[in-house]
Amino acid sequence: MTEKREYTGDYPEKKLYIPGPTGVRDDVIEAMSEPMFGHRMDRMTDLYTTIVEDTKEFLGTDNDVIILTGSGTEFWEASTLNLVDENILVPTCGSFSERHANVAERLGKNVDRLEYEWGQAIKPEDIRETLESSDKHYDVVATVMNESSTGVRNPIEEIGDVVAEYPDTYFVVDAVSSLGGDYVDIDEHNIDVLFASSQKAFAMPPGLAVCTVSEDAYQREVEKDSASWYGGFQRCIDYYDRKGQTHSTPAIPIMLAYRKQMKYMLEEGHKGRSERHREMAEYTRNWAYEHFDMFPEEGYESQTVACIENTQGIDVAGTIEEVSEKYDMVFSNGYGSTLGEKTFRIGHMGEHTVKSIKELTDAIEDVADL
Ligand SMILES: Cc1ncc(COP(=O)(O)O)c(C=O)c1O
Repeated sequence: MTEKREYTGDYPEKKLYIPGPTGVRDDVIEAMSEPMFGHRMDRMTDLYTTIVEDTKEFLGTDNDVIILTGSGTEFWEASTLNLVDENILVPTCGSFSERHANVAERLGKNVDRLEYEWGQAIKPEDIRETLESSDKHYDVVATVMNESSTGVRNPIEEIGDVVAEYPDTYFVVDAVSSLGGDYVDIDEHNIDVLFASSQKAFAMPPGLAVCTVSEDAYQREVEKDSASWYGGFQRCIDYYDRKGQTHSTPAIPIMLAYRKQMKYMLEEGHKGRSERHREMAEYTRNWAYEHFDMFPEEGYESQTVACIENTQGIDVAGTIEEVSEKYDMVFSNGYGSTLGEKTFRIGHMGEHTVKSIKELTDAIEDVADL
């Protein structure tokens, strides 16, 4: 039984280097403190159409964009309900891809996993072989772009090109921990549905999920007439087309923060942001090679989350605690009980720079006596 622990509001500010949430600019936080307004007022249409159209421009996509109160998890469920009649193929390579498969099972779908050892990346040729050799029709292939538990960046572009050869199979991508920090050409690679959460590389407060939807995926849902209510593509997109608003009351303050931060993102650009993240990833990888090793298969390391193999056997939990105490910086242990002490993770995403990442690695070196 959990007991109440009173929130005192009296906590030291910590710089976040975890795989989300990430630090948010001060003026983006401040943007949330406007007096409240109604979600059916014209002002709401201004706000919602601004953030939706700015997001399309940032991502460079002609697909529809839905921004919904909730988190990325909503679109594991909604995309499955909207697109899967019977069979879904989920390559699993870590905890989040496994959870995607689990969600689809809970929704009563037939889930075929293509299982990879944790740390390994999903290979397009395996997807091709499975689609070619199976006697089943897969409604969806669902792939995680950035497996946050293992720090693996999957080659979703090549996988999308393979799925494109199967016109009745939709390609769904969980880009929760990479979108905004790792460039992806959604339209070029047949990505029917791609979703993310606001609190990761977008560097916004948590509470919004962003989803892109292709015309084909939208039409498929319209024709089948079976869909999620809350995350139904048709419901969300038609409401936007008719009224420029959301179908139910959204988290308006977070949308105000989104508006402010998305302007910064537009200034930096999708590719510019990706390049900054690439530099941070490269710096962190080199640091890891100097002191430890990288956990992911070589060549598939994430651009937003470094999963570092604890080859020196440092006390991961103790180091995290001491770095937090001494430097007010927080990084992450490995995922779950298997990787908890075997690896640790540095989230180099959002508004971080090589300089701010170096401040953390210096702190780790000091505390772990490297
Ligand atoms: C790859 C991936 N998918 C999905 C999720 C779930 O996202 P959320 O907690 O925002 O719903 C996470 C969360 O860390 C994630 O890293």
